[in-house]
Amino acid sequence: MANLKLAKVKKAYGSVEVLHGIDLDIRAGEFVVFVGPSGCGKSTLLRVIAGLEDITGGTLEIGGRVVNSLTPKQRGIAMVFQSYALYPHMTVYDNMAFGLTLEKGRPKSEIDAKVREAARILQIEPYLDRLPKALSGGQRQRVAIGRAITRDPQVFLFDEPLSNLDAALRVQTRIEIARLHERMEGTTMIYVTHDQVEAMTLADRIVVLNKGHVEQVGAPMELYNSPDNLFVAKFLGSPSMNILPARIESAGATTRVVPEGGSTVDLPIATVGTAGGAAHLGIRPEDLSLTDEANPPFGGTVVLTESLGEVTLVYVDIGRTDEPFVAKLPGEVSIARGTKIGLTARPQSMRLFDEAGQAVRPRSRRAA
Ligand SMILES: Nc1ncnc2c1ncn2[C@@H]1O[C@H](COP(=O)(O)OP(=O)(O)O)[C@@H](O)[C@H]1O
Ligand SMILES: [Mg+2]
Repeated sequence: MANLKLAKVKKAYGSVEVLHGIDLDIRAGEFVVFVGPSGCGKSTLLRVIAGLEDITGGTLEIGGRVVNSLTPKQRGIAMVFQSYALYPHMTVYDNMAFGLTLEKGRPKSEIDAKVREAARILQIEPYLDRLPKALSGGQRQRVAIGRAITRDPQVFLFDEPLSNLDAALRVQTRIEIARLHERMEGTTMIYVTHDQVEAMTLADRIVVLNKGHVEQVGAPMELYNSPDNLFVAKFLGSPSMNILPARIESAGATTRVVPEGGSTVDLPIATVGTAGGAAHLGIRPEDLSLTDEANPPFGGTVVLTESLGEVTLVYVDIGRTDEPFVAKLPGEVSIARGTKIGLTARPQSMRLFDEAGQAVRPRSRRAA
């Protein structure tokens, strides 16, 4: 059980800086997910925390102790990678025990107890005598996690541990990892993924990374409902939030916004002194619905529909954005390509961003 404190943590490879001063507090026992596009620095940050890479600036504390110059082993950390790298000629039991047997003076009985405890936690007791090749991908990944558990780490690090599994196994193993965190109460876990569904479902708090810096930190629904900026707004949610160029017509207790080529919207958002300014209006696909109004807020031509079973995605060319507008409508909706439709959304569900892409927040939310 340990907290982590990162202060202005930087990492450069030669003259190329890939982490630009990360500040982050992670509470003891917390499940934190680092999420962001490929190449944004997630693995680098994890490897810096693990001690597999040197820090080139700033400080890293684990459990109140500066660990900048400590080896991975001294940091009390265990890491699980995307590829599980089990020894093929060793049984599950031996794979999990191997690291401990290398430590001088560890009694065999103690090693045995640790392996059995890890196997119990992960429910792989029936497979202890098998070789890795006789296991499914998900079971192998559990053995890799078991190997990490036997080391009694203060902090668990996972780097995209589910990427090599097929879709069904990914969901199953994801649920296993959530349960694991519950069972190992008090163990701090940091989990890296580029998959926003994993981030939303596993995290106590999500850290959204972009180009080597932190965009926003918060509980999953907090980030989903009140993204700080356009990057976070577009990154979380599938399909992505629709973004329309807009102009702020009048500011005050409420804000009157005119989306490019569209009808005026009054948003319940207080703004000061921004009248006449350029802005971006954000609308989540699930907040849009069909309307018969003669002059709909968002009207256009259907370019594609996708039926996913419980919802239908309708892509509409509204003539003002590069990408089609996407509406996520409940159930099965059949609309032929080329049909002209109108879409509407409640002003309360819309998000406003200033010209620089920073969120303009309703008062109540800003106070929270
Ligand atoms: N050993 C290295 N040497 C030089 N550049 C690296 C090295 N490792 C990673 N990078 C660069 O650092 C950036 C972040 O990489 P990485 O942390 O692997 O991203 P992510 O895990 O988010 O996909 C990338 O631009 C990558 O090319
Ligand atoms: Mg990576």
